[in-house]
Amino acid sequence: MGSLDTFGRQAVDLRVSLTDRCDLRCTYCMPEQGMTWLAKPTLLTDEEVVRLVRIAVTLLGGVREVRFTGGEPLLRPGLVGILTACARLQPRPELSLTTNGIGLARTAAALRGAGLDRVNVSLDTLDPRTFQRLSRRDRHHDVLAGLTAARAAGLSPIKVNTVLMRGINDHEAPDLLAWCLERGYELRFIEQMPLDPQHGWDRSTMVTAAEILDRLSTRFTVTPEPAGRRGSAPAERWIVDGGPARVGVIASVTQPFCRACDRTRLTADGQVRNCLFATGETDLRTALREGGDDPRTDARIAELWRAAMWGKKAGGGIGDPDFHQPERPMSAIGG
Ligand code: GTP
Ligand code: 5AD
Ligand code: SF4
Repeated sequence: MGSLDTFGRQAVDLRVSLTDRCDLRCTYCMPEQGMTWLAKPTLLTDEEVVRLVRIAVTLLGGVREVRFTGGEPLLRPGLVGILTACARLQPRPELSLTTNGIGLARTAAALRGAGLDRVNVSLDTLDPRTFQRLSRRDRHHDVLAGLTAARAAGLSPIKVNTVLMRGINDHEAPDLLAWCLERGYELRFIEQMPLDPQHGWDRSTMVTAAEILDRLSTRFTVTPEPAGRRGSAPAERWIVDGGPARVGVIASVTQPFCRACDRTRLTADGQVRNCLFATGETDLRTALREGGDDPRTDARIAELWRAAMWGKKAGGGIGDPDFHQPERPMSAIGG
């Protein structure tokens, strides 16, 4: 039995946040001083993460892809062990990681060896000074080295995520695309969503998908991919200069992909969220800890999880008059 919602969507893609901490301080994500981090005892242990992933893959029904996110998932000491255990699950899920890339230079080969299939790396600029201004850390070089190491380790495809901000990095869009095409990385531009803890997001200043395409067309010919290729992917893909190159645009605000959303999320403290913008959560950690080794616990958790997905709303509702930003910031939900 799959985990359907009332709109007939099935959770295929499980996104697991492994920590809310990060070694960058991107201005659209975190204040300079960081956040009030999740308390250690509330965090799932490595064994608990693997058990919940196993329940999702084997009992929930339909989950075929598992993506580890953060905060910054490379800060999780047990990541290699978690991947190794998840790669042994039957049916084996596809395993991916969304990372800021710092630390990949050191770890890419081991992650690949443990079973990681692919990575998405955030890179908002090609200019080290802009990187410092945007992320408040001087780590641009580490991200580039991380990307190179990911490719050398055989992780494929490698996707690059770029959030464009007006007056800061939006002029770089064509340069970023040229840079990624030269290296075989698949670039996706992301519309900034209202998920910042400062609640400073403003629709009128957000760089829209339409603007991004305008900027790209100053240097490239971009044409839409034939209809029907997108499936449940958040990025709408465009053919660059006749192909085979592609560029993606994740227009979560102006053209949300909610109707095809096939995601379920698990936070680092063991809560299921049925949407990035969900206002409620389902507590699996308590059920897991109270149930212990009782053989009925796994089935009970799968049941709770299914019920959580059944309650998934039609969409995130960013444009709705009654929209409220979720209390959890993006860094604690998992990007
Ligand atoms: P693949 O296309 O399978 O590689 O995954 P992905 O693009 O979903 O993963 P990634 O973690 O790289 O996410 C890229 C961006 O998509 C995120 O930074 C978010 O901006 C956006 N995104 C991810 N999940 C959701 C979601 O559930 N809802 C919305 N609106 N946006 C999302
Ligand atoms: N809107 C859109 N994307 C965001 N990210 C972080 N905050 C936001 C936001 N408010 C992106 C990061 C990274 C991914 C995990 O999420 O740039 O690529
Ligand atoms: Fe860290 Fe990602 Fe937030 Fe930047 S956007 S501070 S890399 S969690």
